[in-house]
Amino acid sequence: MVSVSAPSEINKIFRYSKPWKKSDFYKALLMKPDGKPIPGIFATQDEGIHNQLKRPIAGIYSMTTLLSFEPFVDTTMRVLCNELQSRFASTGKPCDLGLWLQMFAFDVIGDLTFSKRLGFLESGTDVNGVMKDLWDMFRQTSLVTQMPWTDNLWTNNPIRRYFRGRTISPGASFAMACVQERREEIKTGKMNVNLETRDFMSRFLEIEAQDEKLPPYALAAWASSNLTAGSDTTGILLRSVFHNLLTNPVSLSRLLDELNTAADSLGPMANWKSARDLPYLDAVIKEAGRLHPSFGLPFERVVPAGGATICGKFLPAGTVVGMSAWAVHHDKDMFGEDCDKWRPERWLDVDGEKRRSMENALLTVSRFIKFLF
Ligand code: HEM
Repeated sequence: MVSVSAPSEINKIFRYSKPWKKSDFYKALLMKPDGKPIPGIFATQDEGIHNQLKRPIAGIYSMTTLLSFEPFVDTTMRVLCNELQSRFASTGKPCDLGLWLQMFAFDVIGDLTFSKRLGFLESGTDVNGVMKDLWDMFRQTSLVTQMPWTDNLWTNNPIRRYFRGRTISPGASFAMACVQERREEIKTGKMNVNLETRDFMSRFLEIEAQDEKLPPYALAAWASSNLTAGSDTTGILLRSVFHNLLTNPVSLSRLLDELNTAADSLGPMANWKSARDLPYLDAVIKEAGRLHPSFGLPFERVVPAGGATICGKFLPAGTVVGMSAWAVHHDKDMFGEDCDKWRPERWLDVDGEKRRSMENALLTVSRFIKFLF
């Protein structure tokens, strides 16, 4: 794999029209109940299947619809604050905030996808080992993604599967149980759907009912992708934000000043519209994602027919090219000589053009949802 860190090449490698195919890196990340891979939006290498799965639900991830999920986030935020208050603030016991932020991220995704939290916050534990399982899975698959030929030998080995004694992860089985439960509720007429504030699952089911051409695995792919792609990633970003603020008191106090000044318009549960125009908060989130991107592995793509010139060198068709957010985000020409340091001000002390080029050089989130960041 040719590892590329020059931000100037991002738009070529991750282009929007006729995107370069994903490499075998992604094979290891497919769900494989009983050893048979199920295509998912994140990991499928087949552009046709990717489109087939993604197009029908793309509207749900539009900003307008995403904002309708804010009440779910508010509910889980209240639970987090209550638990932190009763378990730690009022008892003086030490709190592992990193763990609580991760549990919060998982419970938020459960709530907005299925109207059902995984129960981490209320119980204060990793219910059914969902987080541990994801951690173990990523630790192993991180190696397999770098050596895809080991997938059948290791991650997908039938002997290992037999001894593990289960065919899908606890996270995927939570998702599947929610799907089953919701189907039952609809069948028995128990489901009372509010059209304005319906969750992801209601919307997935509506789309499934309208589109006969969808593959049978579509609902499973959609439901589990939120949980596997959206929980740990959000948890890691939140941890980076809090860790860097708590270890940099000057930044923390500048942010608190900004939040206190805007307190009246933010209200007790700040929503996206009221928080989006706070420049220091925005800079803090960008800097946290720059310094500690959630994905530590290079995103790999395959050079298409005809080859491509990358950083002035010709690469023939079929060459695997990867970009690691960790390397790109430390490009000194783009982010400055002090790019190893936490300095949210770097996003504010530049003109609009430079800021936009720095934003375009971030690989923190998918290239296709940049507007959210
Ligand atoms: C701060 C939180 C998040 C981060 C840092 C993040 C990061 C990323 C990155 C870097 C990619 C591109 C991966 C690649 O090209 O190989 C990606 C793709 C994806 N993410 Fe996220 N993500 C976050 C939150 C979410 C959430 C909340 C969801 C779902 C509710 C989600 C669902 C997906 C899906 C389905 C893809 C595949 C998109 C495609 O290939 O078309 N992500 N994410």
